[in-house]
Amino acid sequence: MIVIALYNLKGGVGKTASCVNFAYLAAKEGYKTLLWDIDPQGSTSFYYKAKPKTHPGIKKLISKDANLENVIMATEFDHLDIIPADNSARSFDVMVEEMKSSKNRLKSVLKQFDGEYDFVFIDCPPGFSALSENIFSAADIVLMPIIPTTLSVRTYNMVKDYFKEKDIDSNKMMCFFTMTDLRKNMHNEIMEQLYKDKKFFQNYIPYLSDVEKMGIHRQPIEAFARSSYAANCYRELWTEITEGVLE
Ligand SMILES: Nc1ncnc2c1ncn2[C@@H]1O[C@H](COP(=O)(O)OP(=O)(O)O)[C@@H](O)[C@H]1O
Ligand SMILES: [Mg+2]
Repeated sequence: MIVIALYNLKGGVGKTASCVNFAYLAAKEGYKTLLWDIDPQGSTSFYYKAKPKTHPGIKKLISKDANLENVIMATEFDHLDIIPADNSARSFDVMVEEMKSSKNRLKSVLKQFDGEYDFVFIDCPPGFSALSENIFSAADIVLMPIIPTTLSVRTYNMVKDYFKEKDIDSNKMMCFFTMTDLRKNMHNEIMEQLYKDKKFFQNYIPYLSDVEKMGIHRQPIEAFARSSYAANCYRELWTEITEGVLE
């Protein structure tokens, strides 16, 4: 089982869009895939039209003997299940509070899925917290979408420093560029500069309106615009990511 967390300290950088598309592509290849929407904004749940009938409460969800069978829902796609977000702000506070007890709490919750799923994708909220520390510990890959702008470079460096400071394996951190616009000099320059870091996949996701249209179709791009350029970009990037982790 490979745990991939779509994370960035920054919001609005394409974590959810990427999480939704990568999880779909993994499932389409036949891998048993679970998507856990931990962000209280619940955007991944929205895209997959997943709304829990009843939520067990966050404490139960992340308790040691949690039985997540009741909260996992099937999506409309084969091999792809989801744990929808709990949208209440209070639950989120409780979750962060609970995570303060140990940075391995989430990791031990995820253990029950070992053998059952090939991939677990976590759509993370932005920011540093006890929750993000748990996510960094539980994830095999902390996958960071980065827009090639000044502020994004700044937050990228902050995450790198945080990994160092907390002694987290920096090899877990893997990045790719999103919402790129190669007509902009700044994008080109920043990409050229950051590629030297060797933390970035060669493939990237340009700024494309088909990505935004996911909100209208409420589906991953591959499901409604398979032959589009955007779908192709996500496929190529996903192939590059899996080349590194599946052998
Ligand atoms: N490659 C892209 N091209 C155009 N719009 C994008 C792209 N990636 C994301 N978006 C749009 O940008 C906004 C933020 O993306 P989202 O995935 O929700 O970010 P995050 O989860 O990091 O907050 C959304 O409206 C989304 O549709
Ligand atoms: Mg999001």
